[in-house]
Amino acid sequence: MPFLADRLARVKPSPTMAITALATELKAAGRDIVSLSVGEPDFDTPENIQEAAIAAMRRGETRYTVFDGRIELKQAVCGKFKRENGLDYEPSQITISNGGKQVLYNAMVATINPGDEVVIPAPFWVSYPEMVLLCDGTPVLVSCPQNNGFKMRPEDLDAAITPKTKWLILNSPSNPSGAAYTEADLKDVAEVLLRHPQVWVMTDDMYEHLVYDDFRFTTIAQVEPRLYERTLTVNGVSKAYCMTGWRIGYGAGPKALIKAMGAIQSNSTANPCSISQAAAIEALNGPQDFIAPHARVFKERRDLVVDLLNRVPGLFCPTPEGAFYVYPSCTGALGKRTPNGETIATDEDFVRYLLAAEGVAVVHGEAFGLAPHFRVSYATSTEVLRDACARIDRACRALS
Ligand SMILES: Cc1ncc(COP(=O)(O)O)c(C=O)c1O
Repeated sequence: MPFLADRLARVKPSPTMAITALATELKAAGRDIVSLSVGEPDFDTPENIQEAAIAAMRRGETRYTVFDGRIELKQAVCGKFKRENGLDYEPSQITISNGGKQVLYNAMVATINPGDEVVIPAPFWVSYPEMVLLCDGTPVLVSCPQNNGFKMRPEDLDAAITPKTKWLILNSPSNPSGAAYTEADLKDVAEVLLRHPQVWVMTDDMYEHLVYDDFRFTTIAQVEPRLYERTLTVNGVSKAYCMTGWRIGYGAGPKALIKAMGAIQSNSTANPCSISQAAAIEALNGPQDFIAPHARVFKERRDLVVDLLNRVPGLFCPTPEGAFYVYPSCTGALGKRTPNGETIATDEDFVRYLLAAEGVAVVHGEAFGLAPHFRVSYATSTEVLRDACARIDRACRALS
């Protein structure tokens, strides 16, 4: 009898973490490595949030809380949804977890039966299909190429839906492409979903506050109220409040789903960290004035990276609406030879070459389900970005 569960044979370790681990290894061996593979803001958690955590610790808020989050935090989340998204939720419709990642996973464990299908637009955040597989479901990938702005066309969604489809996962702005759905885009998606009442929507709005050039963020339950009863809206404090390590995410949806997700959490991890919950209350209820300046910094970096990468022979870099990633195409590098005489056949060959030749760590598009591309995270300083783009340029000019 095999010791490991069969389902583990279906999932693979996170490729983004694999490239980060390889870069770290090379760095430890003394190589000069520039990493553009991180998925978190490089700003510190704002002072007021840190102070709220310290105060909570001193007040003795160091014990278990309710397994799916304190009522004060659920109320703060309801306030956020009302204020920023025009959505009405009550605390019994809110769940708090160890990051948005756990919210998504709880929802899948709570709802997916073997063989249930989950539609995932590609390129996708690497964990979505793996989570579906861990729940014995079937990911159904819908290709969203560059010429569609990396967004799903309604007709492609319609074609992907079958009687077995349980969920559609939406992620706007997207990791890895940075693409964001406008209100009109979401209306088109909603039109299709209204024709298929068995399909629910899991919308991952983690990068809500990182949108640029006057892009107006909207979320599907707001755009189409008729979908409210079958939408799980997922968000968190990681990206907007620079709190990736604190591990607080939240979900809002119909009570029965939220209750089922709570049952999973109460028997697995129980409550997210009590101190982090206190910090998240301050994040959501406190001053929001640092969010716009952070977004301005990210926009400047995006513009810099798009400009520099578009000067590199063989690359094409579209300008994304949000998040802190760009997703250039490396089609022009395929078929070329490196100075060592190796042929670049895939985007994975390309990123391995960048790492070996110039010490630049990025993640290949195949890992996100859409090749030949690579993901660049620009959540780092402009000096690092300039250096990295110069290295990429040198590497590409050395191809023949
Ligand atoms: C699209 C997307 N969703 C969810 C998450 C997870 O966020 P959290 O830190 O809240 O678990 C990430 C983190 O990289 C992400 O990129």
